[in-house]
Amino acid sequence: MSKPKVFVTRIIPKQGIELLRRETDTEVWEDKIPPPYETLLAKVKKMEGLLCLLTDKIDANLIDEAGKPLKVISQMAVGFDNIDIAAATERGIPVGHTPGVLTDTTADFAFTLLMAAARRIVEGEHFVKKGLWITWDPTLLMGQDIHNATLGLIGFGRIGKGMAKRASGFNMRILCHDPWADMKAARKLNVEMGTMDEVLAEADFVSMHIPLMPETHHLISAHQFSLMKSTSILINTARGSVVDPDALYQALRSGDIAYAALDVTEPEPIQTDDPLLTLDNCMIVPHIASSSVATRTRMANMAVENMMAGLMGRKLPYCANPEVYD
Ligand code: GLV
Repeated sequence: MSKPKVFVTRIIPKQGIELLRRETDTEVWEDKIPPPYETLLAKVKKMEGLLCLLTDKIDANLIDEAGKPLKVISQMAVGFDNIDIAAATERGIPVGHTPGVLTDTTADFAFTLLMAAARRIVEGEHFVKKGLWITWDPTLLMGQDIHNATLGLIGFGRIGKGMAKRASGFNMRILCHDPWADMKAARKLNVEMGTMDEVLAEADFVSMHIPLMPETHHLISAHQFSLMKSTSILINTARGSVVDPDALYQALRSGDIAYAALDVTEPEPIQTDDPLLTLDNCMIVPHIASSSVATRTRMANMAVENMMAGLMGRKLPYCANPEVYD
């Protein structure tokens, strides 16, 4: 019997690919950059499975182009804002994703950004490498304390909760805005709930933990920055577009806020002439919050697990559109 055909849109951790190659007729896009949309359109034809990443635009047109043979879309990421979920559901295609396995790794990273920003690690490193360290200086690179400070969480899902757990070890006051919050977990973690404006106004650190949806697009913009403390630090490990980048640039330049630490940008990758890159009070890293060896390996394996379930006509264990089975 011939094996099902699967297209994988980039090289993923080895264990996952090996598993997939054993069971399917796998084609992997091996370039460093994602397949262009037109290429992807051509590639998905006759494929029964598509294993994709957040860099691939999976829209109704692409799903139609794949046509009848396509049984499953499996994304190696927890977020799936690049996929037209409604279109997939309408066409009866289950979409897999990788929740849970990256929660702690991503929360570790968000907290790392918070600490690095508060204690001016990047500036300190540049200072030393530029040969500017000539003596111990009582006022050199004074940063902000993390312990006893107020952490503002926008979003209290898995990763937001992970941040709260880490923050409690630093004796932080934790304020959160999330209209759908799990209040039992909030009480257990000593998290106070507030309106968005309250959280923004009172927090020393504002950390974003919400998915990108039409309602959260540019959620943090000029008005929100104007509410924040001039000493506050914004951390974004969610999606670039939940923050308005022009407003962020203005807020950092004018001193409405002190610093931003970003793992995600709009667009991605950030363009080399983006004004944010000219600012000393903005630290940007290339969307690596979930990138530990163990976690990326688990994500790949999970994506393959979803893929195999879909190909065999079983329910996906980690499904982004469970309504497809109704
Ligand atoms: C990464 O951003 C993910 O959604 O997994």
